[in-house]
Amino acid sequence: MVRSRIIGTGSYLPKRVLTNFDLERMVETSDEWIRERTGIRERRIAAEEEATSDLALMASREALRAAGLKPKDIDLILVATVTSDMLLPSTACILQHKLGAKDTPAFDLNAACSGFIYGLSVADAFIRSGTYERILLVGAETLSRATDWQDRTTCVLLGDGAGAVVLEKTKAKRGVLSVDIYADGSMWDLLHIPAGGSRMPATKETVKNRLHFIKMRGNETFRVAVRTLEKLVVDTLKKNRVKPEELSLLIPHQANHRIIAATAKRLGLGLDRVMLTLDRHGNTSAASIPIALDEAVRTGRIKKDDYILLEAFGGGLTWGSALIRW
Ligand code: ACO
Repeated sequence: MVRSRIIGTGSYLPKRVLTNFDLERMVETSDEWIRERTGIRERRIAAEEEATSDLALMASREALRAAGLKPKDIDLILVATVTSDMLLPSTACILQHKLGAKDTPAFDLNAACSGFIYGLSVADAFIRSGTYERILLVGAETLSRATDWQDRTTCVLLGDGAGAVVLEKTKAKRGVLSVDIYADGSMWDLLHIPAGGSRMPATKETVKNRLHFIKMRGNETFRVAVRTLEKLVVDTLKKNRVKPEELSLLIPHQANHRIIAATAKRLGLGLDRVMLTLDRHGNTSAASIPIALDEAVRTGRIKKDDYILLEAFGGGLTWGSALIRW
């Protein structure tokens, strides 16, 4: 049986750190509120000259280096993002050019915070079908560019960063065991950017009314996320006949420590078996899982044969999970 396996990971975080104390000087908030309600202490902000493809490039180079491959060895480049460099062309094409991977097919995928899991599902399907053997999958965001820095209900949550993985075809029993993705578009307006698309093209009015920034009904999103993720992780393990106690590490999308804690609790997992980067990076949307995965690999938290569970929930609404045997 053919499946896909991750053979290299990489990540990149911009240098500039924005702390909760910095935010206290920008909006009416407090370090205490942000830490208690979200678990976030600080986040990274891209430099003025850095766009999403620049972050993606750094993470991709690291992942390729870890895999021992050159850009020309890759059959497909996928970028999951909601903050593409431009509306046209895709960030994946810009990344392809920067990598010097001429002629390699490349496209973007938008599933908000679930983008990496969606991308994994696409990459895994391409590999299992025999279409491609090696795929570069990147989750990259410069959310700071879509953030309303006057809106305390969103600006304290978000951060910039990129994570990348290289997937390769394998006949071994290890690798990506399952990927499941879901969506419910009826709740699209819980989390969206109203202007800048075909529904509401950019005008002076839309700019004045701050409609090019992320709007979120956080509390409603929170409640749906907890309910959905608790069921999702249980179903994923059951489907794979893996018991929670066999799980080595949960790598969740990093949106809110209360959501993560509820999901872990549902599986009976202690937080020592959960990868947490939220405190240092905030919510980096599609980038959060590959960044956390890369950190887990580089700090020796993942060993051969470990069961790793990934899960995410985000705008769309979208959600998904993946079980990996490392
Ligand atoms: N500082 C101080 N007070 C604040 C802040 C802030 N930064 N933000 C909101 N408040 C206030 C509110 O105004 C409200 O005040 P009120 O009671 O006087 O009206 C109070 O705090 C409580 O607000 P809630 O929104 O109910 O707070 P909640 O506990 O729900 O926490 C949060 C908000 C952190 C946004 C949480 O709801 C959350 O994490 N939601 C889910 C986010 C998520 O998972 N999104 C999906 C992924 S993101 C993506 O796809 C890009």
